Order: sequence, then structure tokens, then C-alpha cells
Amino acid sequence: MAKLTVKDLNVRGKRLLVRVDYNVPMEEKDGQMVINDATRIKETIPTLDYLIQNGARLILVAHLGRPKGQRDPSLSLRPVANKLADMLCRPVAFVDDCIGEKVEKTVGLLQPGDVLLLENVRYYNEEEANDPAFAEKLARPAEHYVNDAFGAAHRAHASTEGVARVIAKRGGQCAAGLLMERELKFLGDELEKPARPFVVILGGAKVSDKIKVIDRLIDKADTILIGGAMAYTFKLANGYKTGKSLVESDRVEMARAAVAKAKARNVQFLLPVDNIVATPVDTGKLNKKGKPVFDLQNPRLNSQPDIPADAEGFDIGPETARRYAEIIRKAKTILWNGPMGMFEDKRFAEGTFSVAKAVVEATEKNGAKSIIGGGDSVKALHNAGLGERVTFMSTGGGASLEFLEGAVLPGVAALTDK
Ligand code: 3PG
Ligand code: MG
Repeated sequence: MAKLTVKDLNVRGKRLLVRVDYNVPMEEKDGQMVINDATRIKETIPTLDYLIQNGARLILVAHLGRPKGQRDPSLSLRPVANKLADMLCRPVAFVDDCIGEKVEKTVGLLQPGDVLLLENVRYYNEEEANDPAFAEKLARPAEHYVNDAFGAAHRAHASTEGVARVIAKRGGQCAAGLLMERELKFLGDELEKPARPFVVILGGAKVSDKIKVIDRLIDKADTILIGGAMAYTFKLANGYKTGKSLVESDRVEMARAAVAKAKARNVQFLLPVDNIVATPVDTGKLNKKGKPVFDLQNPRLNSQPDIPADAEGFDIGPETARRYAEIIRKAKTILWNGPMGMFEDKRFAEGTFSVAKAVVEATEKNGAKSIIGGGDSVKALHNAGLGERVTFMSTGGGASLEFLEGAVLPGVAALTDK
């Protein structure tokens, strides 16, 4: 890696500001906030253990949700401190602020190997504004900086970018944590010279969200398999009827250009040949966000190229799933980003689950390297009960996508070059 990692630092006795991504899903239960999925906390343990073993004094900084500068108590990181203490099997101190006297006093008491978690850095608007004076305050108690928050590395915020500049200017070092290093390896280096066939599976709702990734991966992949609602925009681009399916009619040119590029590069670019559709019926009710709620009636297989006028597509069909699985099972490198359908509803989960099963089979039986690009695909894999049976699952959502697009992540760029 071209950037320093924690292994390059001499951390003994040093005070390290460590940015982690503890933006974990939480839920209120009996008046208390509980963590629904601690994966992001768990994935930082190797870095923290390494630093603890090597006698560093750790000041962890993180965000939770989007409180927009307000001290929203439901977005406090205190429950995370408790969870982290359980996972590290050692005490984790917590201060209900991330800058100021209280923080500095507690940091002054830290012994080598001690861990302190600071309160949600987004309680200050200056964080997202990447305010230089705020970055100075955050950096004040630390000698070096470690960024292990891959999931937030696409943000140029004070705790992901500004502090690194402050610390570097002072002569301190800024290094990647072990999780950050792994993410960059699997989503970056491993895809530069992939073992072939290299099969990319892309799903999700919108062509507009994925077009940059599609465009970039056409240069690298042997096969691209398309699923999710974005497949309906491709269907429309090919001149077929899409019924009530979600489409971006202003993106058909984009879709056509992607298909043409794939053809020119000799990349196999596959679209679904059948779909599971349903008839959406307005219930007259509104959801929490004020959007109308539809009852999805009469789920059925549609094997025609056209989707009937009253129907909406929600999953790939069994023939598509069979064809995709066959290709996936022969792959040596697999990158999967985005579900094939609305897998949260079990009537529309089969397509995504078949893909998940094929990815696991390729990994276990064919020795394929399988890389899951974060967010919904990771959730789908867990729902299918196949969570730990792939080579790598990213902890990033937006960050993975931007990195796969080829963007330079500000949180990475700010680290010290080797
Ligand atoms: C995430 O969950 O995507 C990261 O923690 C970044 O959060 P954000 O999208 O609110 O910046
Ligand atoms: Mg996000």
C-alpha cells in the first residue's frame, strides 16, 4: 500500500486519534438504544487489539447517524462504548463530548493500552463542514492519527480529512488501520489483476447510481450480470415494455451506451430474461415518509420480454437465476454489488438468494475470490444465512461504491505517503 499503515508506526506510549466507522444500525427497545448489527465495531477489533498490544493510548472518534449539529440523545455513541468494551474484553472510557477540556483531562489519564471513545462527532456542524478550527480542536490531544473508517472515507469531514492535515503539519504521522488496509486491498488491488473469469454482479434500483461503476468495470470484467430495478431501464432501452416497473426513462441513452461499450470490449453483458412481477394496488395509506403504500398482489412469473401494463417487476425469474448461477459458479473472481430484487420480501428474495448461493459455491468449490461490495448485498447474504462464507465483505456502503467508481477517497488521500 502506498500509504502508511499502523504497522509502520512506533506507537508505544503515544496518543493516537483513531477514526472508526461506528455508524451502526440501532433501535429503541424499552427506552434504550440497542445495536442491531455490530459488524462495523467487530471489524475494527484487529486494529485496536494491535494498537493496545503495542502500548498506544487510544482516542476513538466516530459519527452516528446524521444529527446535523444537534445533541440528539438517540444518536449517542455511549451504547457503542459498552459494546466495544465487551468485544475488547477491557474497559472503554467514554466522554460525552469530542473536543474541549473534559476530553483533554481524560486523555491525560490514559495509560498505554487504554481506550477512550468520544461522543458523536456530528453533534457539531463543524465536522461535516470540515471546519479547520474544529479539526485543530479534535487533533489537539493526539500525536498521531489512524483512519480505520473505510465506510466514511468518501467524506471530506474534519475527523476524516481535516485532522490528518493538522497532525501532519505538526510532524505527526497519519496511517491506515488494518480494516482500511483490507478494504483497499480487496476493493482495489485484488480487482486490478483478477484471476479469470472475473464476473461482476450488479443490482440495485437505479442505473444513475451504478453507471460509473458499470463503465469502469466493463474495462476489467469478463462478464457483467445485471439485476435489480435498474434492469428495467435496460429493458426499456432495448425497446421493451416495462409496465409499472421502476425505470429512469431519462437514462436509456446511458444504458444503451453501456451495452454498446461492453459489446465493443467483448465483455459478456447479461440482462434478465424473466422476472417475478406483481400488481401494485394503492392501499390509500401513507408510510412514515409520507409516501403511498402499495399492496403487491398476485406475484407471478413473467417470461415474456414485455412486462404487462398492470405489473411491476420485483425480482429476476428462475431462468435468469439459473443462467447467472451457472456463470458465477465458474468464476475465479467475483465482485457483487446490489441485490437482484426486493429480497426483504420473501416473495421476491429467490433471485438474490440464488445468486448468493452460487457466489458461496464458487468460493468454496471453485476457489474463487468473492468480494461483496457493501450495503444491501451484505445484508442479503446475511438474510440468506451465508454471511461468513465469502472471501470479503466490505463495511462500506457509499464509500465502496465511490471507490469502485475509481474515485480518490478523501479519507485515504489525507494519509501519509510511504
Ligand atoms: C455510512 O454508513 O454510509 C457511513 O458511515 C457514512 O455515513 P453518511 O452517509 O451519513 O456520511
Ligand atoms: Mg451513507
